[in-house]
Amino acid sequence: MGRHLLLPGLFLYLPLTAGWTASNCLVTEGSRLPLVSRFFLVCPLDSSLPLLAACYSVTNLTQALEAVPQSVEGLCLAGSTLFLHPDAFSHFPGLKVLGLNLRLTQLLPEALRGLGQLKQLFFIGLRTNHLFLPPDAFGNLSSLQHLAFLGPCLDGNLGVRLPPGLQRLDVKNSCLQNVGKLANIFPDLVLGSSSGEAWTLDMLDLSFNNGLKMASPGALQGLKLGTLRLDHTKMEAAAVVGLGLQRLDTLSVIKTDTAELPARAVAHFELQELNLGSTLIGHIALEALASCYSLRRLGLESSGLTDLPPGLLAAMPRLQRLNLSSNQLQSVMLCTNETGAVSGLWALDLSKNGLHTLSPATFSCLPHLRELLLQGNQLVCLEGQVFQGLRRLEMLDLGGNPLVALGDGWLAPLPALTTLNLLDTRMVLSPGWDFQGPESLHNLSLQLPSGPSRVALSLPMRLRSLELHAASGREHWKLASNVFPVLQTLTLKGWGLQLGTQNVSEIFPALLQLSLLGNSLEALCSQDTSSFFLWQLPRLQYLRVWGDRHSPRPCCITGLPSLRELKLQALQSRAQPRPVRLEELVGELPRLEVLHLAQTGLETLSAAAFQGLGSLQVLVLDWETGLVLDGSLQEHSPQMPQYMYILTASLACQCANAWVGPWLERSPRTYIHINSNQLCQPEPGGRSKNPLFPFLQSHCPKTSGLGLFLGSFALLLLLISLPLLQEARNSWILYLQALFRAWLQGLRGRRDEGHRFLYDVFVSHCRQDQGWVVWELLPALEGCPPAGWGLRLCLPERDFEPGKDVADNVAENMASSRVVLCVLSRQALNTPRCRLELRLATSLLLAAPQPPVLLLVFLEPVSRHQLPRYHRLARLLRRGDYCVWPKEDERKDEFWAWLGSRLGKPGLG
Ligand SMILES: *[C@@H]1O[C@H](CO)[C@@H](O)[C@H](O)[C@H]1NC(C)=O
Ligand SMILES: *[C@@H]1O[C@H](CO)[C@@H](O)[C@H](O)[C@H]1NC(C)=O
Ligand SMILES: *[C@@H]1O[C@H](CO)[C@@H](O)[C@H](O)[C@H]1NC(C)=O
Ligand SMILES: *[C@@H]1O[C@H](CO)[C@@H](O)[C@H](O)[C@H]1NC(C)=O
Ligand SMILES: *[C@@H]1O[C@H](CO)[C@@H](O)[C@H](O)[C@H]1NC(C)=O
Ligand SMILES: *[C@@H]1O[C@H](CO)[C@@H](O)[C@H](O)[C@H]1NC(C)=O
Repeated sequence: MGRHLLLPGLFLYLPLTAGWTASNCLVTEGSRLPLVSRFFLVCPLDSSLPLLAACYSVTNLTQALEAVPQSVEGLCLAGSTLFLHPDAFSHFPGLKVLGLNLRLTQLLPEALRGLGQLKQLFFIGLRTNHLFLPPDAFGNLSSLQHLAFLGPCLDGNLGVRLPPGLQRLDVKNSCLQNVGKLANIFPDLVLGSSSGEAWTLDMLDLSFNNGLKMASPGALQGLKLGTLRLDHTKMEAAAVVGLGLQRLDTLSVIKTDTAELPARAVAHFELQELNLGSTLIGHIALEALASCYSLRRLGLESSGLTDLPPGLLAAMPRLQRLNLSSNQLQSVMLCTNETGAVSGLWALDLSKNGLHTLSPATFSCLPHLRELLLQGNQLVCLEGQVFQGLRRLEMLDLGGNPLVALGDGWLAPLPALTTLNLLDTRMVLSPGWDFQGPESLHNLSLQLPSGPSRVALSLPMRLRSLELHAASGREHWKLASNVFPVLQTLTLKGWGLQLGTQNVSEIFPALLQLSLLGNSLEALCSQDTSSFFLWQLPRLQYLRVWGDRHSPRPCCITGLPSLRELKLQALQSRAQPRPVRLEELVGELPRLEVLHLAQTGLETLSAAAFQGLGSLQVLVLDWETGLVLDGSLQEHSPQMPQYMYILTASLACQCANAWVGPWLERSPRTYIHINSNQLCQPEPGGRSKNPLFPFLQSHCPKTSGLGLFLGSFALLLLLISLPLLQEARNSWILYLQALFRAWLQGLRGRRDEGHRFLYDVFVSHCRQDQGWVVWELLPALEGCPPAGWGLRLCLPERDFEPGKDVADNVAENMASSRVVLCVLSRQALNTPRCRLELRLATSLLLAAPQPPVLLLVFLEPVSRHQLPRYHRLARLLRRGDYCVWPKEDERKDEFWAWLGSRLGKPGLG
């Protein structure tokens, strides 16, 4: 194996050659989409579809689609294809969602023929990419509901017919400047076109057209719209009135040039919802509010508000959701007590403002409020009165406030509360702290302070979901309650909570989901030689561990009979990383369906690890480097999981992985997505890389047989020769010859078992260093014992057969020597001729089927950077196979002792 590892060393600076021709498609079941979602970001595919595929770097569509299962219902294609040929998708009649992130310039209607079930069609691209659409491009897509152009410029198109069932049209991130243009492109939108009827759309999304600033009057005459989105454009909300829309319910103008509440637009359309986030409003005039009575939902987040007009809620009696997050409000005065009127508001978002205190009457007029978000403010304490009257409140978020104390009985006025968030607070819990919240409270997120006086933690027993953040300190918190009979979801961040491992199944008998975040697993792991997870939770279905990268050894998750999904993340020790085998991470998990590993230090996957994972369907390996898929998997492959994703992960450039390439192409059952950019970087830090599989297949003779080996060897020779061309002009031919001879001789030598070495040491050196060789080396090695070692050296200038080609001489003599000794100096390394000779020596050595021992002697210290790449091979040598010739006489004995030991001779006196 050593030799095969060394061989790649020759390739250190070769250009990429042939590519690996596997498809660049990622296929997933919709239910597993979250596992690989980042690969589907370009196309908004829907996880409710049973089977999805995303293909990248598509240049030949026909070829790319050959790799896609015909039953996919969602397909996303990205690449540089310019045209779609007729019937391009005829093999996918069941397609429901299609995203095309190609460089299409024209769409022929025949291209989409047969997509009678298509519901959503996305064209994705760049603004500079002009897309031409013939009028009947979409005419036959009878099921199409959502048509989206995310990027491509449609300017120049005229009279494109909309598919009959269209409900949503997006022209986003495109070159649109005038809404009027849209009506020219899609005349169906406006009244008076051939159809006669005014079109109705659920949504028209024109956001992110950052040149969009005009709306010619009556541009969308007669159109009935549910929602109009103009976010991130230069439009003003007020201009919407002039579009001539017959109906509009929701208007979204986030991050536009809107500077005041568009009161006229609200009144004109009797808008239900208005989204004004990230605008420059700053202040709301009471007069403007007068015409906003129709609004049910109002978004004013990030609008620079410093105060609210006193009659805000009274002016909008139908308001249900009000979003005031990320403003600069120091106080809120929503309830005025003159009128005593109450608001119907049921969701109020005041997060990320500058609220310091809340006066007792703040929410007094909101008896219908169900959701109150106050996280990310400056609240230090809360008076018991403040939530008075919120009898329907279900969700209260107080996270991210510097809360120190909560008044006694502060939760008492909230009988309906189900969800409470108290994370990222600074609460000091008093010893007698008793968290007996409302009867209905079932979802609690709580931060435990890391103070000196730890107490028994009293929590409501009826909790169904609990998230505890507890920094570990000297003392641990204890749970006062012995049992949480209905707790299903538990998240623990930090190990500040003490839980007896033996009884954990009695404490949490109903636990289904467990997340352990930000700590090492050691506390939950057996400490003898077998290191396994101690929590026995018979009903647990989902387990996620996100470590802190401090555990020196892995903890095997095993013995959880109901576990269906396991995610292990950031477990590899940062200080002492060590390669981990899969069986050290997972054991007996008979119902496990999904295994997701990221940064665990995983190296080897072998069949043994899959023994206890009989139900595994999906394996995701992410952020793991140098993976080795053991050959035992090949026989095991019928039992391998159905989907394997090797995402931001790399396979090791080792012959052990050579079987994977051919197997991938004919693997009958397992779909493997492997990051197509798998490269062999044979030398750490080396710059040149080769595609992994062709490389391994051609350089690992075990898998390929002699014929292939010969073929690949010819390739190898050719490759080696390329860079030499630059440096050594004609001498490369000589080099090739020598290399080939060395290999041939080695081959002969292998057959001839009784092969005897003609020389003990072949000395490769440059003329500049001849002095040292003749005056120092030669006497010591060739001199008669006891002064010398009596070895037989081969010196080029002395022992080469006269008249014979130099390359022949080098090759033959090297093959006839037991040891090759390379003498290196800085001067030598700067001489092209000498570099060639040395390269020849190292290459011959590596190419020979029976490599001799290689020793390097540096006549002076040479820094790594001065070494040409091939000499960094020294690093690949066994430790101690090189030595520096010392300047000081007294240290020379050490040198000779080293050389003697390498040559099998006793030290020289
Ligand atoms: C695309 O691939 C198909 C099948 O692999 C092949 O027949 C066709 O010639 C290729 N087209 C181009 C333009 O290369
Ligand atoms: C659309 O359907 C009609 C009738 O079914 C057919 O004649 C026409 O060729 C189709 N057009 C395209 C582009 O497939
Ligand atoms: C308020 O707006 C922010 C920013 O868009 C959003 O993240 C948040 O979910 C909204 N709040 C509610 C209650 O919808
Ligand atoms: C509410 O009424 C009290 C007295 O009844 C008055 O002092 C206070 O200013 C009023 N608050 C508001 C916001 O009008
Ligand atoms: C509990 O509440 C948090 C918000 O504080 C929410 O993110 C989480 O999904 C809820 N959990 C359950 C099980 O309802
Ligand atoms: C475990 O439960 C047993 C009885 O059910 C009890 O005696 C023991 O103290 C408990 N151990 C821990 C660590 O809570």
